[in-house]
Amino acid sequence: MRKLINIYNVCKTKHLKTSRHPNHECSKDLLYRSRLCWRSYMQCPRLQCPHITVTVVDLSQERIDQWNSNSLPIFEPGLDEIVKIVRNKNLFFSTDIDKGILEADLIFISVNTPTKSYGLGKGRAADLKYIESAARMIANVATNSKIVVEKSTVPVKAAESISNILRANQKAGVKYQVLSNPEFLAEGTAVKDLLRPDRVLIGGEQTQDGRAAIQTLVEVYKNWVPQENVITMNTWSSELSKLAANAFLAQRISSINAMSAVCEATGADVSEVAHAIGMDSRIGNKFLKASVGFGGSCFQKDVLNLVYLCECLNLPEVATYWQQVINLNDFQRRRFANRVIECLFNTVTNKKIAIFGFSFKKDTGDTRESAAIYMTKYLMEEGAHIRIYDPKVEIEQIFSELNNPAICDSPEQVRQLVTVCCNPYMAAEGASAVVICTEWDEFVNYDYKQIYKGMLKPAFLFDGRLILDHQSLIDIGFHVETIGKRLSRPNVIRQGALTN
Ligand code: UGA
Repeated sequence: MRKLINIYNVCKTKHLKTSRHPNHECSKDLLYRSRLCWRSYMQCPRLQCPHITVTVVDLSQERIDQWNSNSLPIFEPGLDEIVKIVRNKNLFFSTDIDKGILEADLIFISVNTPTKSYGLGKGRAADLKYIESAARMIANVATNSKIVVEKSTVPVKAAESISNILRANQKAGVKYQVLSNPEFLAEGTAVKDLLRPDRVLIGGEQTQDGRAAIQTLVEVYKNWVPQENVITMNTWSSELSKLAANAFLAQRISSINAMSAVCEATGADVSEVAHAIGMDSRIGNKFLKASVGFGGSCFQKDVLNLVYLCECLNLPEVATYWQQVINLNDFQRRRFANRVIECLFNTVTNKKIAIFGFSFKKDTGDTRESAAIYMTKYLMEEGAHIRIYDPKVEIEQIFSELNNPAICDSPEQVRQLVTVCCNPYMAAEGASAVVICTEWDEFVNYDYKQIYKGMLKPAFLFDGRLILDHQSLIDIGFHVETIGKRLSRPNVIRQGALTN
């Protein structure tokens, strides 16, 4: 029986919370769910491969206990069901890392690689300290040959570093092959993406041993992925392809968001423009939804990583090109916040503003780099009272994001200005504006007549995700603003048009 293990190295241990937060306007017991890099737990073909045993190891007893409980530490549609079926059959969660390493044939390293917050490459380069410690742990413990699979998103040439560490510390009779097998799952659709991936990428050394290791991993995926969708290449191409895929996706969003600004200034409608260009089969219609800005742990991190790589390779023009994807995203978030302030008669001080949605996209409780964090930050800086509602995100998570010194250096200010509400009607009660930051499906079905009744008049609604029926909201009486389309504002004459 083939044994695979994942290593998940804990870098931030969060605590279980059952207390009530003073800024939570509803009685509800809270269980803080740590945001694990859940992909590491999803990558193996459990249901399809009963002949393969997967052991997930982690330093944190608390996290492993959560994975062994009925309340998994992350929310992902369909994940609970899969884990329940196979846990303790051929899927195990354990803190016994040494045993995991000793028994495994393949070891997946799935640790965090956050953007460095110190030293060389601060704010851009990926921090590889957890990768390095995982590699050292394997080298210390292993007594027979292993295939080590790099699953975390890493800079190009990271596999080489892992390989160097392993080989510099290898014991007699122990050989290592290091593969790159990047993850392409997206949060909210991870189970679907896992079961029907567009492609699986495996990179390895172009030597006889390297090719044999690649083939071993190909055989694992072949249990449920058609062979033509499993592609193999050299390690560096595989590592770069991961960064390139995320950079291209982020670039598409920044491109359509750039167009949204032009649409607002000209009277064009960004959804119509996206539809028109998306019908060109060379362009395609995916990832063309204008928004208040992309979020998530991956796009910004990976693009910045690519920018840093280009700078290190002495390619400043290329670095500037990709940096612009991030700059445009910052601009889009700032632009939308400014619109809220301008519409509310140029001041939001002491006004109540409801924010609907705090996760970075629907169907996930993940809040990393979410647009809502920045909207809250900008509006808080103007002295607004923010009332947040999200169907999934826990209150502790919201406060932890807002109390990050990069967002607000005064916990006192956050405490005074932010309230988390347990339903949208409560959040909007007495508010001057509702701002939609996440595209949760349930937002479409609310009783907006009731929401309107409870709000201060004029009542403003800012749809940062283009999900609502704007005409019906206008009919109710709302002043509606959205991205990439002028609604209730009078036509603005283009600058320069008068001189033409
Ligand atoms: C992304 C990639 O899509 C995955 O392929 C990749 O594996 C993953 O990063 C990763 O590197 O781990 P994810 O961040 O989970 O996945 O979510 P996406 O669906 O890509 O959305 C990212 C952000 O872009 C979200 O804030 C979303 O709302 C926004 N978005 C997406 C738009 O604003 N417009 C769009 O048209 C699409």
